[in-house]
Amino acid sequence: MNRIDKLLAAMTLEEKIGQLNMIAAGYAITGPVLASGTEEDIRAGRIGSLLNLWGSANVNALQQIAVHNTRLGIPLLIGFDVVHGHKTIFPIPLAEAASFDPLLWEQSAREAAIEATADGVNLVFAPMLDITRDPRWGRIAEGPGEDPWVGEQFAKAKVRGFQDAGSAQGLTDARAVAATAKHFCAYGAALAGRDYASADVSDRQLLEIYLPPFAAAVTAGCAAIMPAFHDIDGVPMTAHVPLLQDWLRRKAGFEGVIISDYNAIAELLHHGIAADLAEAAASALQAGVDIDMMGGAYSQGLPAALARGLVSIEAIDAAVRRVLSLKERLGLFEDPFRRGSAGAPACRASMARRELAREAGRRSIVLLTNDGTLPLSRNLRHIALIGPLADARAEMLGPWALAGNAANAVTIQEGLAAALPNAEIAFAPGVTIAGDDTSGVAAALEIGRTAEIIILCLGEAAAMSGEAASRANPGLPGAQHALANAILGLGKPVVTLISSGRPLMISKIAAGTKALLATWFLGVEAGHAIADVLTGKFNPAGKLPVTWPREVGQVPIFYAERPSGRPANPDDPYTSKYLDMPVTPLFFFGHGLSYSRFSMSNLRADKAEFRRADELIIELDVLNEGPSAGEETIFLFARDLVASVARPLLELKGTCKIALAPRESGTVHFRLAAEALAFPGRDLARVFEPGEFLLLVGPSADPRGLLKLKVRALPG
Ligand code: NOJ
Repeated sequence: MNRIDKLLAAMTLEEKIGQLNMIAAGYAITGPVLASGTEEDIRAGRIGSLLNLWGSANVNALQQIAVHNTRLGIPLLIGFDVVHGHKTIFPIPLAEAASFDPLLWEQSAREAAIEATADGVNLVFAPMLDITRDPRWGRIAEGPGEDPWVGEQFAKAKVRGFQDAGSAQGLTDARAVAATAKHFCAYGAALAGRDYASADVSDRQLLEIYLPPFAAAVTAGCAAIMPAFHDIDGVPMTAHVPLLQDWLRRKAGFEGVIISDYNAIAELLHHGIAADLAEAAASALQAGVDIDMMGGAYSQGLPAALARGLVSIEAIDAAVRRVLSLKERLGLFEDPFRRGSAGAPACRASMARRELAREAGRRSIVLLTNDGTLPLSRNLRHIALIGPLADARAEMLGPWALAGNAANAVTIQEGLAAALPNAEIAFAPGVTIAGDDTSGVAAALEIGRTAEIIILCLGEAAAMSGEAASRANPGLPGAQHALANAILGLGKPVVTLISSGRPLMISKIAAGTKALLATWFLGVEAGHAIADVLTGKFNPAGKLPVTWPREVGQVPIFYAERPSGRPANPDDPYTSKYLDMPVTPLFFFGHGLSYSRFSMSNLRADKAEFRRADELIIELDVLNEGPSAGEETIFLFARDLVASVARPLLELKGTCKIALAPRESGTVHFRLAAEALAFPGRDLARVFEPGEFLLLVGPSADPRGLLKLKVRALPG
């Protein structure tokens, strides 16, 4: 008998259910604290995993109890939300997605894993892979944006980074953590952008938009998956047999652990699909949920469910087996303390990590508009730094920074002061982030009047994005509009920075400012990263991973729309548009300027006709027209012109980067597997339909900048 068989044979029902029970440590300002009774429950084998506990001493103390003071000595899983860094906080995922750089995505996950494992963590609740087209939903900050293809690349990179797939030891490596892809699935389609609300999505949308990133995570070997809190079409994801069992387990072949979201099994009662905890526990177990995070539903409900015949002991055993297998894969039975004993990360390593955070930060910044005011002239002597986000240390970290330390974050003010030692930088916040007191505006105007240039730092607080942070009106909160209007009214050149976890509705400000940048929440090195871009030390290269609406009334807005029978036509009222606003966004998906100017030409493919098994090589020439060396991300979209099901006007099939010196030109190459042009047919089975396809290549999804080429798919 192998270890797991032996353990299962020796376990009591209570011990089996204990392995399926995950309990949270609360946290106080000084660190994690345990609810009374937790140690005793671990000793009795009633807890198999913990969350929100970190610090090697804290973790090891409890691991000691699990390993040495329980009947069977089974080690604990220690789970933690490492969504954008652990101690060294990196840019929020939406920002990092803007880098369109899978290697960077992987590296930041790798470094986060190294720090988290040094803190005793062996399981992270990341990556978050929810595609969303709704900036009202605060959790847009935590994921890769609106596009499923980007979501797939993000999933693969993050799983590799966390699980250290590069190392020969794989998950047993002391510096590897088990990744949890979440929140399965279509959580980003929550009704009206309201967190935890129901979603009503078609099977086609699931197949085309919401499932692909999870399929990619499974293929990459992701150890765990977390179902979302919400329901799809009346079936809560925590009890969704067709998606969890039929799709995830059978079709995608996922063999890892399914971990409920916090209290989600018990919440099946609120959803109205279970009358008591026994029914809730049975529904979740039947759907394949192995671990109950903090719901108490398995510990309280499973014994009764078993007695009533709602679940079988075989189903419980299968879940326990999956949990024990994960502990085995993590090497916890051989050495349960391997992760917490690495000691504090060496100083040099943490310096390098900060350097990576700075690099990630500047690669995440998107230059939205610029009339040539940026980069800042080296001769500037008097700068006014205005706005509530200019000196907002804690906000720079963003929404998931539990183990991070706000004291380590660099503010925009500090970053600029370090980068421009010869300039005098006067600072006035003007207003607070969300308050309505405008008494500070006068002081801001005062410093603005005498400055050569104004840098206006606006945006949200970190807590306004992330979980439970939906906003019906995702604009600038409080009196920031009043501040912006007053400052823009001075007639001075204004550069506006937007710190936020989502695209904010800022059309008017965008029109009045000389340059506008999306600076998101960039983590510990925010201030330096921003200064690098403003001064031109780093030539911005970020591109929007999400369409930026003009107004909230346009939501949901995304580039991969299907064609209308009556496409928008300004001269024809009976076409698909608004009476009060254009249909186009403020900024297209993929938009992002550089201090260089790139031109593209000569789009070509190695084949005019192809079959399903073929690969196309698509090339185009890019010229850097100057004046600086720079990097451009180029997007390859496809459109199936005539198909049995109307296909989106644009579908992303690849991205490519090219770095060019001024006046240098180069060629970018895309490899496109013809199979990627297949889609779910009318019966939802994947089909490859012969006929004409349009390939569209360019710097963003803005149709005006795309080069086009027709190719033809042949049968077979
Ligand atoms: C609830 C959140 O939805 C999820 O993303 C997170 O991992 C858990 N809480 C644990 O903190």
